[in-house]
Amino acid sequence: MGAYWHPFSDLAAVDAAGELTVVRGEGSHVWDAEGRRYLDASASLWYCNVGHGRTEIADAVAAQMRELEAYSTFGDVTTPPAAALAERVAALAPVEGSKIFFTSGGSDAIDTAVKMARRFWQLAGERERRILIRRDRAYHGMHTGGTSLAGIPANLDGYGGLLPDVIEVAWDDAEALRAAIDEAGASRVAAFFCEPVLGAGGVFAPPPDYLAAAQAVCRDTGVLFVADEVITGFGRLGAWFASERWDLEPDLITCAKGITSGYLPLGAVIASPRVWSAFAAEGAGMFRHGYTYSGHAAVAAAALVNLDIIEREHLLARAVDLEASIAEALAPLASHDVVEEVRAGVGVLAAVHLSADALAEDPGLMGRIVPACREAGIMTRALVSRAGVAVCVSPPLVLTDADVEELGTGLDAAMRTLSDGR
Ligand SMILES: Cc1ncc(COP(=O)(O)O)c(C=O)c1O
Repeated sequence: MGAYWHPFSDLAAVDAAGELTVVRGEGSHVWDAEGRRYLDASASLWYCNVGHGRTEIADAVAAQMRELEAYSTFGDVTTPPAAALAERVAALAPVEGSKIFFTSGGSDAIDTAVKMARRFWQLAGERERRILIRRDRAYHGMHTGGTSLAGIPANLDGYGGLLPDVIEVAWDDAEALRAAIDEAGASRVAAFFCEPVLGAGGVFAPPPDYLAAAQAVCRDTGVLFVADEVITGFGRLGAWFASERWDLEPDLITCAKGITSGYLPLGAVIASPRVWSAFAAEGAGMFRHGYTYSGHAAVAAAALVNLDIIEREHLLARAVDLEASIAEALAPLASHDVVEEVRAGVGVLAAVHLSADALAEDPGLMGRIVPACREAGIMTRALVSRAGVAVCVSPPLVLTDADVEELGTGLDAAMRTLSDGR
């Protein structure tokens, strides 16, 4: 093993099995150092919405870097790409009049939203409102705030006390949310964090009416409704934001990933007028929060071209088509012994959920899932939560019809290998 400490890795397992070196990407495919081609079924880490190999993004970044690579935007300083991107994202945002706070990625966006939410209530004079509510199966990044909001115990346990004043509720029950707020006392609750579609927790679409009901509970109790759209933002749900699909008007939206399709790292918090106006009021003072690379000029240039591509190539409409065709291509996988359920049909997102019995009977199965997919030419990851284990499907939005077929046949071959190997 070299010096590279892989994130989210079991170092001993990587040491034993070796690394996979990815060297090139084009559209929905990537190639490893041995020249093997894979369909990128997970768009890397849910982010490569416009597909790999976009030289026009590289060109725009190079041009910006030649002019001005970056300049800190603390205080009153801005740069043309950062200002333009804020206007562009504000124009796309589901809540009119929003302001955009840039971060370096999704975890930064979540921790920023945590601080905005708690400070909002300080500014509003309701100083006891500090409690944050998370859902079972939630993933909100890996900084201290986001880890504290993890509804996946394996991501939370082992670090001692993180943020105090955090409550967990069921992922699918708005009345349970109301009961939790009532029990804590609404005057103590700051914000509810909610992925419109649970991602890393296993790709679970919300039950019908859940999101509207959860938002209504927040409105009734004054609690800020924070939509974590790090995965669902910028096209994956067939709209710029999942909030549009479910008619939500979040007080804060966190986003990242698809905003640049991962060409450079970027996150953002979209703050509604309800929230930002408290920070802009006379006497509110300075919000002492921000990151060195907030509004990085070359990153913003990448994001602007990425958004151009999404628009020009009608990738939101393509996502709507893919939602149906991926569901159709994956449905037959449910017939395999090792598969308990296929979840698909809400956005360009799906999960092939493995049988809990098969995993219990064969402890080695877990470690064979990703290798079997790779062997069948499919790059993906296993998603693990209290709900069980699932193979992640969140490909680029540029997936062609032939790619959809390749996805179906590749995963079918992998599930057959896993079933036969039992
Ligand atoms: C819903 C959600 N929120 C936050 C994050 C954290 O984003 P990042 O890894 O860019 O810090 C992720 C990452 O996958 C995510 O899926």
